[in-house]
Amino acid sequence: TYPKKATLIEVGPRDGLQNEKTFIPTEAKTTFIRKLKAAGLKEMELTSFVSPKWVPQMKDAADIVSSCLDDGHNIVLAPNQKGIDRVLGTKCQAVAVFVGVSDSFNKKNINKTTRESMDELKPIISMLKERNFFVRACISTSFYCPYEGKVDEQAVLDLCEEFAFAGVDELSVADTIGMAAPTEAYSLFSKLLNELPDVLMTAHFHDTRKMALANIYAALQAGISRFDTSAGGLGGCPFAPGATGNVATEDVAYMLERMGISTGVNLPLLVDAIDGITPFLSRTIDSGYYRLAKTE
Ligand code: HMG
Ligand code: MG
Repeated sequence: TYPKKATLIEVGPRDGLQNEKTFIPTEAKTTFIRKLKAAGLKEMELTSFVSPKWVPQMKDAADIVSSCLDDGHNIVLAPNQKGIDRVLGTKCQAVAVFVGVSDSFNKKNINKTTRESMDELKPIISMLKERNFFVRACISTSFYCPYEGKVDEQAVLDLCEEFAFAGVDELSVADTIGMAAPTEAYSLFSKLLNELPDVLMTAHFHDTRKMALANIYAALQAGISRFDTSAGGLGGCPFAPGATGNVATEDVAYMLERMGISTGVNLPLLVDAIDGITPFLSRTIDSGYYRLAKTE
């Protein structure tokens, strides 16, 4: 049996744009966000408060937040205390912290071991919960690491449990380099739902090897109904070599609607949002739904 409804958490403005080398004007980003909201995407990662030296594209995070908090569930990423301090200077009330299960990836991404990151993040999570923030934790390399290969499933379960005990509201469990097989996705998400029933559980699939829709189908069967997706299939982590975009929001919305699972996404308005950002991108959009919409 499948759920009647699924939630798509739009990560295009953050994961989708962070890898673009040429700076995209802030106004183009805020227009993109506004149009995505108009297309029915109520939960969204707007931007990230990371080091502008590491990820220059996200240097306008505070400006994005100041003009995009009007409606919806607006999440921003922050990797450390400095990022949190910047978030506290805004009106944003939902933060995503992020950590990789594998040390090598975590070091390349945030310059710390996984353990060092956890030791820094746990008091931050307590502080955020005391201030009534919504806290999400993004778990990178939950299946494969670009440097270490296959990641131990138990290590993922343990890290997720540690975050749950620390008080996070949501876990976004990620296949950073798009290598998970649907059997692996089914196995991990079944165990996560069974072991951590009180946390919102979200699946974050990159589509590097075109397995993301199959993985979403497998995660649905495991009982997941929340998926991170990116308009146009944009995205990729600058510190995961070869990582390409997230699974495309339009392809996921189309598949789920065809399965009778409602997402609240208006596909023509979503295409309009993608049309608006494409002139600023270094890449073309190759999601199935978008290509067809443009040739019909
Ligand atoms: P570091 O160099 O070890 O840190 O970077 P540092 O404390 O030595 O600081 C270096 C400089 O950055 C200093 O500036 C700091 O002030 C500044 P300086 O004194 O040299 O002028 N700085 C900051 N500035 C603004 N905001 C901050 C901040 N922190 C330090 N928050 C650091 C450590 C974590 C900052 C860095 O490694 C970093 O920014 N990493 C972010 C990497 C990133 O954004 N990755 C992509 C997002 S995660 C992702 O995509 C995966 C996900 O989608 C799930 C999946 O698919 O797997 C979520
Ligand atoms: Mg990602």
